[in-house]
Amino acid sequence: MLGLEGQARSELGCDMLEKAMLSYRYFIIIIILDVQGVLNTVSPVPDRKMASGYTIPVFGLGTAAMGDKTYDAVLSALTAGYRMIDTAQAYWHSEESIGRAIRDSGIPREDIFIISKLSPRHFGRDLTSRSVDVSLRKLGTDFIDLFLIHNIHCSDYFQCTPDEPKATWEVAWKAMEELHRQGKLRSLGVSNFYPPLLEKLVAMAEVPVSLVQNWFDPFYRDEATREYCEDHGIVYQGYSTFGTQWMYMRQGQDRNPVFTNPFLLQLSETLDTPAHVANIVLRWALQKGVVVIPRSVNAEHIRNNLKVLDLELSEKTVSGIDNNLASVGIGVNGEPFLDDATWNRIMGNLNAESHDDDLTRLRAATKEQRKEKHSGQTESIDVVNREDETVFIGSDGGRMYALDGVNGHVKWTFTSEEDLGSTAAFSPDQSVLYFGSENSFMYALRVRDGQVVWTVETGPVRSSCVVGWDGTVYVGTLDNQIYAIRPDGMVKWSRDLGGEIWGRPAIGSGGRLVYVGVMAENTDNAFALDSQTGNLVWSFRAGGSNWSSPVLSPDGRCVLFSCRDSHIYTLLTDTGHLVSTFDVGEEHDGIDSTPAVASDGTLFVGTNGGSVLAIDIERGKLKWEKKLRGEILSSPALDNEGNLYIGTSDGQVLKLKQKDGSTVWQVPAGDAVMSSPKLDAHGRVFVGSNSGFVFAINDETGQVIWQVETEGPVVASPLITAHHQYNYTLYRHSGEDTKDEL
Ligand SMILES: NC(=O)c1ccc[n+]([C@@H]2O[C@H](COP(=O)([O-])OP(=O)(O)OC[C@H]3O[C@@H](n4cnc5c(N)ncnc54)[C@H](OP(=O)(O)O)[C@@H]3O)[C@@H](O)[C@H]2O)c1
Repeated sequence: MLGLEGQARSELGCDMLEKAMLSYRYFIIIIILDVQGVLNTVSPVPDRKMASGYTIPVFGLGTAAMGDKTYDAVLSALTAGYRMIDTAQAYWHSEESIGRAIRDSGIPREDIFIISKLSPRHFGRDLTSRSVDVSLRKLGTDFIDLFLIHNIHCSDYFQCTPDEPKATWEVAWKAMEELHRQGKLRSLGVSNFYPPLLEKLVAMAEVPVSLVQNWFDPFYRDEATREYCEDHGIVYQGYSTFGTQWMYMRQGQDRNPVFTNPFLLQLSETLDTPAHVANIVLRWALQKGVVVIPRSVNAEHIRNNLKVLDLELSEKTVSGIDNNLASVGIGVNGEPFLDDATWNRIMGNLNAESHDDDLTRLRAATKEQRKEKHSGQTESIDVVNREDETVFIGSDGGRMYALDGVNGHVKWTFTSEEDLGSTAAFSPDQSVLYFGSENSFMYALRVRDGQVVWTVETGPVRSSCVVGWDGTVYVGTLDNQIYAIRPDGMVKWSRDLGGEIWGRPAIGSGGRLVYVGVMAENTDNAFALDSQTGNLVWSFRAGGSNWSSPVLSPDGRCVLFSCRDSHIYTLLTDTGHLVSTFDVGEEHDGIDSTPAVASDGTLFVGTNGGSVLAIDIERGKLKWEKKLRGEILSSPALDNEGNLYIGTSDGQVLKLKQKDGSTVWQVPAGDAVMSSPKLDAHGRVFVGSNSGFVFAINDETGQVIWQVETEGPVVASPLITAHHQYNYTLYRHSGEDTKDEL
C-alpha cells in the first residue's frame, strides 16, 4: 500500500492523486497511513436525521477566516473523508473556494452536505432571496443542504452600516421558508440563538427548525439551548469547540485554553488509547449529542480530527471532563458571565509542565464551584416592545428625542444642560440608549421611556459612542480621554490619548481592539487599544489630525483613518502597519466626513472642499468625484440598491448613485447638514439639520414625510430601532454536581 501510494504520487503528482482518490466513490472505509506508517481505519461519518427529513453528518469542516487557504483545506478534508462543510456568506471568499474545491474533488454534489449562513446584512424578503442566489452561484450548486440565519445582530463583524439590517430576522426567516419551498434550501436553521429567541422562532416557523449552531466548548456548554433543542427535535451543532472564542475575547491571550488545559492533557496521555486533546474534545462533544465542525487548514490536523470517529470515551471520562473543567453561565444573548475567578479558572496560569499542581488547584476550584452552585433560575430583567420604529436623535439645544418613525410624534425627550452632538448607540439587546453630552456626562437611558439607567461623569463628549458585543460602551471626550464603560455604568478603563476625540471609536479584530483617532498633529494620532484593558496595542502618526471616525475594510483586515491633511491611511488592524496612503489632493482641504465603505471595497467620502469622492482604495484609484456646494462634514449612508445619501454645509440632503455620483434627488434642509442620513427598512431617510429640524424623507421621491423642530442645531445622526420585539429573559446556567473523580 505504501509502495502503491508512493508510485502513484510520483506518476500523477499530489493534486491529481487527490482527485483520483476522491473520484473513487466508495469511501465507506478510508484507509489512511499515518506518519509512522501504521494503518488506521476511519469509520464512515454517521448521520443524524433532522426535522426536515434530511440527514446531516455529525462531523464536518469549519471554514471561518480561512481566506485563501479555504480551497486547499476543503480539498484535503474531502480527500480525508469529510462530507460536511460549514461556510457562511460572511466568510471572505469562502463560498466560491468551497464550490471550486467540491467541483475539483470529483465527488458527486449529492454526497456532500453544505451549510451556509445568511448574513444579517441580507435580512429582507427580496434581499435574502437574492443573497441566496449569489451563494448558490458561488457554491456552484442549485441547492444548499442547510441554511442558517448567522446572527440576528448586524455587528461590525458583518461590516454592517448603522442603518443595517434593513429588515428583521423574522422577515429573513419567512424568506428562507419560501426558498425552502422552491427547493433552493433543503433544511433551515439558525446560529447564535438562545432559548428565548428560539421559542419565538419555533412558534412562528412553518418550515421546521432543523438545527441550531452555537458556540460550544468544554467551558461553554450551552446547556439551556441544548436542552431546548433536545425537547424540540432540533439538532444542536457546536462551533469553536476548540475554545477559539476565548482567544478572540481577550487580546494578548494567544494560548488556547482547551489545548493547554492540564486536565485534558493528562487525559490525552492516560486514556487506554492515547489521543490528542483535539480528538478528546470532539469525542466528548459527539457523545453529548453535539454535531461538530472543527476548523483546520493543516492537512495533518484535518486527517487527525477525523480519527475522532474511532475513539470512544467511557461515561466516566465524559462526566470527568464535565466535572473537572470550569463551566460559565450564559446570558440570554449567549454572553458568558465572566468574573475574574471564572476567567482564571478557564485561562488561568495553567502551565502544561506542572499538571499535578494545576490539577490540585482545579479540584479546589471545582469544589468551590459546587458551593456556588446556581439553581437554574430565570430572572426577567426587562421587556422591550419594539413593534414600532423609533428614531433617537440629540439636538444642540441639549435634548435627546425619541420620535415615532412613522409620523415624527415625540415619544419622549430627555434634557441635559449642554449640547447633545453625540450620536447615540444601543446596548446589544436594544433596551438601553447611550450618548454623551458636552456637560461632561455619559448617559444610559431606557429605550422604551427615556428613564435614566445611569450617568457617568467623563469629560465633554462630542464623539459618538460604540458598543462592543459584551455591552461595553466606548466613547471619546474633548479632554483627550477614551472611556470603556461597562453595561452597569462602571468605568472599566480610561486612557489619555493626547488629543481631543471627535470621531466615533471603531471595534475590530473580533472585538479585541478599539481604534480611535485624535485631533493631534506631529505626534501619534491613530491608536489601537486592547478593548478589555485599554492597553496600547499600536499607534500611528498620520500627517494630519483625525476629526472623522476610523472605519474598517470589508474583510476586517484594515482600518482606515481619513485625516485633515487630505490623506486616507490604510493600516493593518492587528499591527498598525501602513498598507497604503491615498492622497485626495490639497484642493480638498482635508477630510472631516467619516467615509462609508461598500462591500466591494469602494470608499465613499466627503471632503472639506465640498466634493464626494468614490475611491477604489485597494488599487489606489479615484473612481469619480462629484463637486457639490459647501463643505461636507456629514458622512455618507449607503443602501443595497447602489445609492448613497449625504448632507452638505450649504443645506442640502442628496441621494446620489454610487456608480457615478449622479443625483437622484436633492432636498433643502434650511441650514447646514452635518448630521449623517440614516435609512430604515420602510423607505424612509432620516437626517438632522443646523436649522434645528429633523426630517424624514421618502427615499423614492425625495418628498419630506415629516419634520420636527428641536431647540437647537441637530448635528448628531439619527439612530433607529430595529423593527422587532422579543422578551428579554436572563437565563442562568444550572450548575451540575461536581465530583472529584479522575
Ligand atoms: N455561527 C457562528 O457564528 C460561528 C462562529 C464561529 C465559528 N463558526 C464555525 O465553526 C467552525 C469552527 O470554529 P472556529 O473556526 O472558531 O475554530 P475551532 O474549530 O474552535 O478551532 C480552530 C483552531 O484549532 C486548530 N486546530 C484544529 N485542529 C487541530 C489539531 N488537531 N491540533 C491542533 N490544533 C488544531 C486550528 O489550527 P490549524 O488550522 O493550524 O489546524 C485553528 O487554530 C468555524 O470555522 C465556522 O465554520 C461559526
